Amino acid sequence: MRTEPSASPLSQDELKTLVGRAALAYVVPGEVLGVGTGSTVNKFIDALASMREAIPGAVSSSEASTQRLQALGIRVLEAQAVEVLSVYIDGADEIDGHGFMVKGGGAALTREKIVAAMAKQFVCIADESKQVQTLGAFPLPVEVIPMATGHLMRRFALMGGQAVLRLRDGHPLVSDNGQHIIDVRGLRITDPLGFENLVSQWPGVVTVGVFAHQKAHVCLLGTATGVKTLTY
Ligand code: 5RP
Repeated sequence: MRTEPSASPLSQDELKTLVGRAALAYVVPGEVLGVGTGSTVNKFIDALASMREAIPGAVSSSEASTQRLQALGIRVLEAQAVEVLSVYIDGADEIDGHGFMVKGGGAALTREKIVAAMAKQFVCIADESKQVQTLGAFPLPVEVIPMATGHLMRRFALMGGQAVLRLRDGHPLVSDNGQHIIDVRGLRITDPLGFENLVSQWPGVVTVGVFAHQKAHVCLLGTATGVKTLTY
């Protein structure tokens, strides 16, 4: 169940701006950071422009974030050129009380998981509508090899899920990695670590949008009363 947003004088967009700015406190001067994808991260990228001279650059999780970073004069580094990131800052579609997340609403889940794995710390930025008790109300994104789509949809059906192929302009959406995305409704993910382990080893799955191994260490949650810092 999602947390109903409390009656806030601030719009969801303003809450995203607040948490995007608050995340600047986690950027370590002199060190490369990882940057996620999405509308909340866009607010963070806009704020990060004020620190562009203080950081050597960023590793980006999508073509969209790369373009935005570069347009603001922030250097984008290849993941291959970097050994470790001090911090990874990204949004989420859902986050539970342990810092486990569902991600991939923006189709960037594979690169997000890779960049998160390179970082010492994952800081999630989200408005309070993203906070849930149990993951699964948001349709779970799964990046798949196209030829496995039908087979994987049937496997999800066997566990009670209804999977649909994500479309853009009437055609299958093609991810930055040249693959497709399916979105699975009707799941209740009570054991995120076990679920991620299970689905990740199904042939044809590139990345499942459950981030349990790459969970958040901190969440900056935008609420009616300001930014709450949750640690896990
Ligand atoms: C993109 C993601 C995003 O972090 C997630 O969809 C949240 O996006 P937004 O900040 O726009 O609500 O996982 O793949």
